[in-house]
This record gives sequence, C-alpha cells and structure tokens, in this order.
Amino acid sequence: MNLLSLLALLGFAAAVVAVRDSPSACSAFKPTNITNVALTNLPTYFSANASVNISNEYSSIDVSNLPAFCRVELTITTNTTAGSFALTEVWLPDDWNGRVLTLGNGGLAGGVTVAELGYVAVPQGFAGISTNTGHDGDVDDGSWAGPHNDNAIVDWGWRAMHLSVVAGKEVVQQYYSTPANKSYYLGCSNASPSLKEVQEFPEDFDGVIVGSPANWQTHLRGWSIHMNLNTQPSTSPHFMTEDIWDNVLAPEVLRQCDSLDGLVDGIISDPRDCAFRPETLTCSPGQNKSTCLTPDQISALHRIYAPYYEANQTFVFGGYFPGGETKFYHGLVGKKQSKPTKAYFQFMVTNNTDWTIHDYNATLLQLTDELDVGQSNAINPNIIGFVGSQHNGKLIQYVGWADQLISPNNSIYYYETVHEWTRANTNLDIDDFYRLFTVPGMNHCHGGFAANAFGGVQQASNNNPPLSLDPQHNILAAIVKWVEDGIAPDNFTAVNYNSNDVANGVGFTRPLCRYPSNLRYKSGDPNSASSFECVFDS
Ligand SMILES: *[C@@H]1O[C@H](CO)[C@@H](O)[C@H](O)[C@H]1NC(C)=O
Ligand SMILES: *[C@@H]1O[C@H](CO)[C@@H](O)[C@H](O)[C@H]1NC(C)=O
Ligand SMILES: *[C@@H]1O[C@H](CO)[C@@H](O)[C@H](O)[C@H]1NC(C)=O
Ligand SMILES: *[C@@H]1O[C@H](CO)[C@@H](O)[C@H](O)[C@H]1NC(C)=O
Ligand SMILES: *[C@@H]1O[C@H](CO)[C@@H](O)[C@H](O)[C@H]1NC(C)=O
Ligand SMILES: *[C@@H]1O[C@H](CO)[C@@H](O)[C@H](O)[C@H]1NC(C)=O
Ligand SMILES: *[C@@H]1O[C@H](CO)[C@@H](O)[C@H](O)[C@H]1NC(C)=O
Ligand SMILES: *[C@@H]1O[C@H](CO)[C@@H](O)[C@H](O)[C@H]1NC(C)=O
Ligand SMILES: *[C@@H]1O[C@H](CO)[C@@H](O)[C@H](O)[C@H]1NC(C)=O
Ligand SMILES: *[C@@H]1O[C@H](CO)[C@@H](O)[C@H](O)[C@H]1NC(C)=O
Ligand SMILES: *[C@@H]1O[C@H](CO)[C@@H](O)[C@H](O)[C@H]1NC(C)=O
Repeated sequence: MNLLSLLALLGFAAAVVAVRDSPSACSAFKPTNITNVALTNLPTYFSANASVNISNEYSSIDVSNLPAFCRVELTITTNTTAGSFALTEVWLPDDWNGRVLTLGNGGLAGGVTVAELGYVAVPQGFAGISTNTGHDGDVDDGSWAGPHNDNAIVDWGWRAMHLSVVAGKEVVQQYYSTPANKSYYLGCSNASPSLKEVQEFPEDFDGVIVGSPANWQTHLRGWSIHMNLNTQPSTSPHFMTEDIWDNVLAPEVLRQCDSLDGLVDGIISDPRDCAFRPETLTCSPGQNKSTCLTPDQISALHRIYAPYYEANQTFVFGGYFPGGETKFYHGLVGKKQSKPTKAYFQFMVTNNTDWTIHDYNATLLQLTDELDVGQSNAINPNIIGFVGSQHNGKLIQYVGWADQLISPNNSIYYYETVHEWTRANTNLDIDDFYRLFTVPGMNHCHGGFAANAFGGVQQASNNNPPLSLDPQHNILAAIVKWVEDGIAPDNFTAVNYNSNDVANGVGFTRPLCRYPSNLRYKSGDPNSASSFECVFDS
C-alpha cells in the first residue's frame, strides 16, 4: 500500500490533497476500468489564478481568479450499438471539499456548462461535473435531433446526465483516491434530467436544487405555442408592440398591484394576490392606439394570464403572472421561446421541417404526450426512492414569479402533485424533504428588477454572485446543510445589485419565502431584508 492510499484509508482526505503533486498528478491522470468512458483530451492543470478561457457553443468562461484545479474531458459512449456519445467534463479542485456537484444545462443546450463549473463548483471546493447532453449546439437549436436521431434525443432527455453523474463520481474517486462523501445537483431551466434522476435513479444525488425546471416538456411546448398564437403575428389584431408591453401594460399592472405587499417599489411580491384587469386600459374613441388596448388585445391578455386548458377541460399549463411585463414581450414574441419550441415540433415530434406553429392543435398535443420524445418528461409525483428514509435525499426548488419562459405555475404544479401524492400514500411530511422558494420579480433563472442573486446557476456568471457563501445567502450551502446537518432552509436572503451588476454595489436585500408563504413589507428600511416577513396565511 502506498502512502496516499494509507492516508486515504485513515480518512486524511485533506492530507492526501496536500501531499499530491497536483500538476503532474493531473496530467498523468487516466480513468481506468470505467465502462464506455475515455479521455477526450489529456487532462489540463490550471494553477491558481491561471487564465481559464474556455468556450463552446453553449457556454463560455474567461477568468483568472480560480483556485487550482484539474480539467478532465471525457467521452462517454451512451449506446455502444449506435456509437452515440456525450462529452462530459469533470473539474477537480486541489482544495477539494469532498463533494461532487453536477451542473445542469438550459433549453436544447448542447455544451458543457463551463461557466458554472468555473463560477460555482471550483471556487466553492466542489468537484464539478457537466455534460453537453449528447450533442453540440446552442439553447435554441434543435436540428441535431432530426431526422430520427433517437439516441441523441434520449441523451438530451436524461441519459447523458445520468451516465455523466455515474462516470463523474468514479473519476472523482480515482483522482482523489477516495470516494466523494456526497453528491449534489444545481441547475435551472433544463433541470428536468435531474428530476428524472430523483424519480428513477435516486442514488445519483443526495441533494438537488432545481430552478424553474422544464420537467413537463410535452406540455411546456404546447403552452409556448398557445402563448405565441395569443401574441403573434405582428399583423394580427391582438398583437401588442414591445412599447405597449413596457410602457402601457407594465405601469398599469404596477398601479393595480404593486401596493398589495405593503410597499410601492416596482416589485409585486405575490402575484397570486393580483387580479389584474386590463380593461382599465380600454381605448376611448379617438385615443392614440399606442397608449391603450383594443378588445382583441384585452382578450389575448386574459388568455395569457390564465391557465391553459385544451378543449376547455384538460389542464395543459399555468399562465403568466402579473409583474414580468417588460420581459414577456421577449419571451413570447422574440425568438427565445418560439425558436426552440418550433425546433422541438419540427425535429422531434412531427419530423416535418415545414411544420409551423399554425399547424398546432389538440390532436398534436395528445400525440406529443404519447411520444414523450427522449422520455424528457419528469413528472412522476412519487419521489420516495430519493427522499424516503433509505436514501434521505433533499430537494430544493426555486422559481422567479416573473419567469417569461416557463410559467411559474409549473413549479407550483409539480410541488403540489408531489405534495398530494405523498399525503395520499405515505405518512411523510413534504417539508422534511422538498421545499419550494419563490423569487418576486425574478425572470427565468436570473435577472429582472428583483433581489435575484442567491447562488443559483447563471447568477454569479452574469455578475450576480450571492452576497455571501453562507447558507442564508447561498442556496448551494443551504442544501449541503440540509443534507449533512439535517437543518432545512426556512428562507433565503437574496441580493439585488444596482442594474444587476455586482460592480455597481448592493441595491437592496430581500427574503425569499418558502411556498406557499407570501412576502410582506413590515416596516423600516425597504432596502433591508429585515423589514420584510414571510406570511403563511393566504
Ligand atoms: C474493473 O471493474 C470490474 C467491474 O466493476 C471489476 O470486477 C474488476 O475487478 C475491475 N478491474 C480492475 C483492474 O480494477
Ligand atoms: C490568486 O489571487 C488572489 C487574489 O488576488 C491572491 O490572494 C492569491 O495569493 C493568488 N494566488 C496565487 C497562487 O497566485
Ligand atoms: C479568450 O479567448 C478569446 C478567443 O480566443 C479571445 O478573444 C480573448 O481575448 C481571450 N481572453 C483573454 C483574457 O485572453
Ligand atoms: C441503441 O441504438 C440502437 C441503434 O440505433 C437501437 O436500436 C437501440 O434501441 C438503442 N438502445 C437503447 C437502449 O437506446
Ligand atoms: C468525508 O466525510 C468524513 C466525515 O465527515 C470526513 O472525515 C472526510 O474527510 C470526508 N472525506 C472527504 C474526501 O472530504
Ligand atoms: C419523429 O421522430 C421521432 C424520433 O425518431 C419519433 O420518436 C417520433 O415517433 C416521430 N414522429 C412521428 C409523428 O412519426
Ligand atoms: C401615439 O403615441 C405614441 C407613443 O406614445 C407616439 O410615439 C406617437 O407619436 C403618437 N401618435 C400620434 C398620432 O399622436
Ligand atoms: C370553451 O368554452 C368557451 C366558453 O364557454 C366556449 O366559447 C368555447 O367554444 C369553448 N372551446 C372549446 C374548444 O370547447
Ligand atoms: C395554476 O395551476 C393550478 C393547477 O395546479 C390551476 O388550478 C391554477 O388556475 C393555475 N393558475 C394560473 C394563474 O395559471
Ligand atoms: C393537427 O395537426 C397535425 C400536425 O400538425 C395535422 O396532421 C392534423 O391533421 C391536425 N388535426 C386536425 C384535427 O386539425
Ligand atoms: C427566516 O427563517 C428564520 C429561521 O427560521 C426566521 O427566524 C426568520 O424570521 C425567517 N425570516 C423571514 C423573513 O421569514
């Protein structure tokens, strides 16, 4: 037995790291005996503060302030018959905290999230894992899926993620000569593969944080079209210009609802309280149409803010909530939502590149559900394998109330279906393993006029790091505390930086409340989180 394995055996993990000659250990590292896993390139060592300038079609990072780490690039064969594969990276910090953190992707993304590996995992001491999900491409591109590229579709749906976690943990164990103590996940948007793992591969993670997950892909895509049809095309009578969204609708929503939380500050703390009535903007005879709404536009708004039921009975998806109007135009009319949605139907569902959103109908929605291409729906309410006493996993979810790409109601809906199932089938209390936090004013995953920085993905990498790395301010530290110390988070303190950039200094702090509680202003300095409370009564 050599010195390293002796020390590891004795539990001297820190000592192992200290005596390791990291640069040469890194470049000589070769994973052995991991089925279907090979090195893509020789591992690269980055010493502390070295330039880390890496990019792919989905994600990029260009910094020189990271602690030392070893970058291992893997090719994972996902189906040997087909020769399909995923590219996955494992970033191994010298100063390792004994934990693994898998970082998720967004949209149809095909690229390792190098930004989050560098901004989140490595600086906090986690060995980081991320995969390209089985193809290269940006968030909106779906052409890789067709025609009939079934293996790539299922890799994107869940398989690349699962295989990457299994292989990544093995790489971690071989590199440090000791297994990781705990395995975590942090992702937002296309966080659906992680919920799939919670539902089907409970051993993969001990703690999971999902932001606004696209876990009901079949319905999300149908809803996106429904929302597009309610706003487009620009020649239709219900079309509203960006100017109307920003300068007519947004101020009226605030006029009607901003004060409901006790403070007029441009943020609607609980949009469930806001019964927005667009009728107040009805054009009077002769009024300039750029400053008011026509009956067609008002009807469209009612559909946009309402849950979507197909044929008046089947619940498809939740509606928008008032408060995100300045981003809704981009979500609905801009390519953000329509492009990946069109790609999903063209390249995965209908396999017809001439298909347009005007070809959408109830029959197609039903077919989409039946196909569930790539098995990407992760909607099973039974998560006992993960959260039950056998495994004791913890799940934290968050969602911005002003999400412009996935109705916040989708997060509530999944939480409620798990809640209901658990109550009906077990004696467990959902609070002991699954908590949902809502973020007033935050758009999809980040941004918006909001206290929107709390350690989620796409935050630090967009100049919005958490105020501190402690569990009250940093959701990643909170899940570690819950999993390892059994102390669950009640609320978070999120920060807003002026113009959403840490360089401009702190604007204000706010609590993030645990669903179903509501944020209310008490009294005192409105810029301080301590002037607010979370109220459970409505
Ligand atoms: C390789 O892995 C297999 C299956 O896990 C195991 O049985 C075998 O002993 C391993 N071989 C080496 C050389 O570690
Ligand atoms: C890296 O940069 C930080 C901050 O400037 C500094 O404190 C630290 O000593 C540097 N480390 C190395 C190894 O250069
Ligand atoms: C990072 O790489 C890009 C592309 O190669 C280059 O344009 C950029 O200048 C590099 N950044 C630094 C800090 O060198
Ligand atoms: C692997 O790919 C082959 C060839 O495309 C296919 O027939 C088979 O069903 C795939 N297996 C799995 C498990 O996806
Ligand atoms: C794993 O946890 C144990 C117990 O807390 C600790 O002694 C050990 O150092 C940890 N291992 C690593 C690799 O950090
Ligand atoms: C389109 O292609 C996908 C992937 O091969 C397949 O699962 C699906 O059934 C096809 N759709 C139709 C309508 O045939
Ligand atoms: C109508 O209002 C818009 C926006 O306020 C303004 O740009 C435009 O000049 C107005 N048109 C007329 C005819 O007054
Ligand atoms: C849905 O209900 C409305 C109001 O009752 C009715 O006007 C409409 O025709 C119904 N649509 C469908 C598809 O059933
Ligand atoms: C949210 O979803 C629930 C179903 O869970 C539905 O009853 C409710 O009307 C939805 N609200 C909105 C605004 O979408
Ligand atoms: C529904 O849409 C599909 C594909 O877009 C089309 O083939 C079908 O004919 C449509 N069905 C109805 C009833 O319009
Ligand atoms: C946050 O949780 C802590 C601990 O339970 C509690 O003392 C505090 O009042 C909570 N803050 C809010 C705003 O609810």
